[in-house]
Amino acid sequence: MNAEFDLSGRVAIVTGAGHSIGRATALALAGAGADVALAGRRIGPLEDTAAEVTRHGVRAMAMECDVSEERDVRLLAERCARELGSPEVLVANAGVFQEWGPSELLGLEEWDRVESINLRGLWICCQEVGRRMIASGRGSIVTISSIGGMVAIPNAVSYTAAKFGVVGITKALAAEWAQHGVRVNCVAPGYVRRDVETLEDSPEVLAGVLARTPMGRLGEPREVGLAVAFLASGAAGFITGATLVVDGGWLTT
Ligand SMILES: NC(=O)c1ccc[n+]([C@@H]2O[C@H](COP(=O)([O-])OP(=O)(O)OC[C@H]3O[C@@H](n4cnc5c(N)ncnc54)[C@H](OP(=O)(O)O)[C@@H]3O)[C@@H](O)[C@H]2O)c1
Repeated sequence: MNAEFDLSGRVAIVTGAGHSIGRATALALAGAGADVALAGRRIGPLEDTAAEVTRHGVRAMAMECDVSEERDVRLLAERCARELGSPEVLVANAGVFQEWGPSELLGLEEWDRVESINLRGLWICCQEVGRRMIASGRGSIVTISSIGGMVAIPNAVSYTAAKFGVVGITKALAAEWAQHGVRVNCVAPGYVRRDVETLEDSPEVLAGVLARTPMGRLGEPREVGLAVAFLASGAAGFITGATLVVDGGWLTT
């Protein structure tokens, strides 16, 4: 293996690590040698991920943390630094989908719920962990946006707004923090298999997605995780402010 892909001795934080993309990303980072702190609202799935992570011979730490709560995120960063070491990688993955529907009918409560996790929560994580990276003079942040952060997703205005915002945060921090040795990049997944509420449960929607995707299949969570691991590693040493689309070609048409 080229040494630049190796994450041995690095400490990573992954939010939303109990399921799907977050879980697969934690495993991809562990497979590259990183110790991983796993965060999410429910401890059970995080402990399951932690058990899988340690099978790679690295250390894992699972902690309940709501990314929209500043205090939770601060405690996460503190505990990670104490138990695993100062975080050099952050994967800001935690996110929710909105209730699909015409935007003229969207309630403010649902708008706020989605923004508070997908945008504000991601920002809190970037700022809290970014401060530590700036202090140590190095770090790599990978944010998770979506194809809905590149083009409009009709009937999902709140999700679309948040995911465009994630790309904006990525670029702003990349420009600002390069001088501190901190790279900030983004991965924008297309339709990826999930652990729960899968597209397979809605055959008509799934058929539409597959017909629209040049590669004709859903992405696997691990395919997103490996893209994240690349951006987190030294192999991406001259890449910052970029958005890597992982969508089976969805955005090409
Ligand atoms: N799957 C796709 O097709 C797809 C496509 C484009 C973008 N994405 C993005 O990829 C990311 C992961 O999506 P996914 O498909 O893997 O979703 P998922 O299977 O629903 O997993 C999301 C994870 O985030 C955690 N989470 C939710 N709210 C949280 C909060 N406030 N604080 C901390 N953790 C929270 C959840 O655990 P708890 O509920 O226990 O907290 C869960 O483990 C999201 O940002 C999503 O928008 C996914």
